[in-house]
Amino acid sequence: MVVTGATSGIGRAAARAFAERGDRLVLAARSPATLAEVRAECAAAGAQALDVPTDITADGAVDALADAAVDRFGRVDVWLHTAAVMAYGRFEETPARVFEQVVRTDLLAAAAVARVALRRFQAAGGGTLILVGSVLGHITAPYLSGYVASKWGLQGLGRVLQQEARDTPGVEVCLVSPGSVDTPVYQRAANHLGRLGRPPLPVTTPERVARAILDCADRPRREVSVGRANVVMRVGFTALPGVYDVLVGPLMRLLALTDRRTPPRDGVVFAADPSSEVVRGGWLPDLGQLARAVGGLPGAVGSALRRRPW
Ligand SMILES: NC(=O)c1ccc[n+]([C@@H]2O[C@H](COP(=O)([O-])OP(=O)(O)OC[C@H]3O[C@@H](n4cnc5c(N)ncnc54)[C@H](OP(=O)(O)O)[C@@H]3O)[C@@H](O)[C@H]2O)c1
Repeated sequence: MVVTGATSGIGRAAARAFAERGDRLVLAARSPATLAEVRAECAAAGAQALDVPTDITADGAVDALADAAVDRFGRVDVWLHTAAVMAYGRFEETPARVFEQVVRTDLLAAAAVARVALRRFQAAGGGTLILVGSVLGHITAPYLSGYVASKWGLQGLGRVLQQEARDTPGVEVCLVSPGSVDTPVYQRAANHLGRLGRPPLPVTTPERVARAILDCADRPRREVSVGRANVVMRVGFTALPGVYDVLVGPLMRLLALTDRRTPPRDGVVFAADPSSEVVRGGWLPDLGQLARAVGGLPGAVGSALRRRPW
């Protein structure tokens, strides 16, 4: 299994899940230090793993990654592509260099991954490419122009590849389209809007998306949507475009932006930030902590009552 985007969020959750069932892994992302951590996590789960620091936007980098995978393990059966970056801002206020790097990473580099993976699969007689798109490959939202344009492009590319793969037995192309997921992609995003973004409710876990990905690896499907609101949003966008356009701006500002102000910044669009690379973004309550707090409630109330000065 090759995982591009293995150091954070969904890719890291999937790498762990593949490792737990003993799959042999080749892990790629830009940050060498975090990749070494993820390799160690996979090894601790009992898997053989190779980490190959890779910037997928660099010339020849994806081919070199495939070579490293084949050198180590003989062939690639599954290539999971999750790597992406995000940028908030009105289109005209987002610097062109930021918009272009988002498209370069999220669409053009995804195409480079698909090209390399499909050529290797054809030569080897089969393989499964899993592209992680987004519900934003089916609907649109303001302030995310580069990301939305890329995800629509990736959706179109993925569907073309599925149609072409019909002529190459054994070669499968799957699209996984999550809604909101609790990962740090929101904190890591570039921001030229002034307000920090957040995942709008309902938010699912990266582990839930990882399960859908593992399922695709075992039983390839055209597209898997992960997120309870995805269908509702897609129906609203398609059937009632006028109403959708009236509501989407206010809803985006209410549900998908925090009140926290931020100066303009490029986030991880141009370079990795190892300190922000974790599986969960901290957008969901920690249920364990919540249960402990509820469990400790009677004691806390008791001691508060005992402290009352009567
Ligand atoms: N989180 C959500 O709510 C959500 C919703 C729908 C779809 N998705 C999609 O799910 C996928 C994973 O997102 P996530 O939320 O898990 O994001 P994330 O936590 O920010 O992880 C993104 C991964 O991509 C890697 N990456 C970024 N640029 C790269 C480059 N140039 N070369 C190689 N690796 C690169 C990052 O590592 P380095 O920075 O070290 O390179 C990191 O491992 C993305 O395709 C995203 O669009 C996410």
